[in-house]
Amino acid sequence: MEIHRAVLVKEVVEFLVIKEEGVYIDATAGFGGHSRAILSKLNNKGFLVGIDRDSEAVKYLSESIKDSRFRIIKGNFASLKELIRGIGIDKADGILFDLGVSLFQLKELDRGFSFLSDARLDMRMDTSQKLDAWEIVNRYPQRELERIFKEFGEESHAKRIARAIVKKRERDGINTCKELASLVERIYVRRGRLHPATKVFQALRIEVNEELKCLQRGLIEAYELLNSGGRLCVISYHSLEDRIVKNFLKDYASTKKMVVITKKPILPSIEERLINPSSRSAKLRVGEKV
Ligand SMILES: C[S@@+](CC[C@H](N)C(=O)[O-])C[C@H]1O[C@@H](n2cnc3c(N)ncnc32)[C@H](O)[C@@H]1O
Repeated sequence: MEIHRAVLVKEVVEFLVIKEEGVYIDATAGFGGHSRAILSKLNNKGFLVGIDRDSEAVKYLSESIKDSRFRIIKGNFASLKELIRGIGIDKADGILFDLGVSLFQLKELDRGFSFLSDARLDMRMDTSQKLDAWEIVNRYPQRELERIFKEFGEESHAKRIARAIVKKRERDGINTCKELASLVERIYVRRGRLHPATKVFQALRIEVNEELKCLQRGLIEAYELLNSGGRLCVISYHSLEDRIVKNFLKDYASTKKMVVITKKPILPSIEERLINPSSRSAKLRVGEKV
């Protein structure tokens, strides 16, 4: 199984690596596509710190990138400063966030991210965390479920889906991803390519992993870690993430703390979208600290 195909690699490296001898942070190192490309641009004085909250990614990277200029840390980028300072680094010249999940996390069926999975609803990126999707689906009040589907999935059938979940779980619980996906499928039919449960699954994933809160925190911490002239590159995959990134850059630019380098987001080329369909929704935004 292909574990992950990194998105917009050439573009990220061009915008991010402004100094061959600089210190860089890949805050979502995953399976190392971007990390390897960044390392290839650094000279022997440069340094790269990789971070991921998923222990499988961290284990893979610590075994596969053997380079004295690279260090991998398991942790949440919401605590970026603490993680980086914990290894004696104070400042960085560039920081990358490639948000969301890796293909590995989506395809590894027992991680419980996929509609097709017979596994327990899980969706934790960090499997040492307690809250998982099962807990939300089976325990949250109906009103909370509706709010999550609306807020984090922009799901127009949020109310009906929340009601159907509560009705079903009273009888026999909702245990697997497939059970949840087919419940949503019974509520409304597929239109176009998207599975009807796409938005519900996105919403649950965001709630389980507190993705939007972590992103807001991570961006602030990244800004504080950057040297003047240092670059922040963020790849987002849906409108909720992109809105946070866009507004963050706009706010910081309006107070002259940052300059927005990408007036419009950079999108993958047609070739990249054809070769790697998961890049279709990617948007890269870049800012530079003043
Ligand atoms: C799209 S993948 C990154 C892929 C990577 N750029 C590559 O080339 O292989 C996103 C990764 O970010 C990690 N991640 C998501 N949110 C995180 C957070 N708050 N803190 C640390 N890692 C996070 C996920 O576990 C996942 O491995």
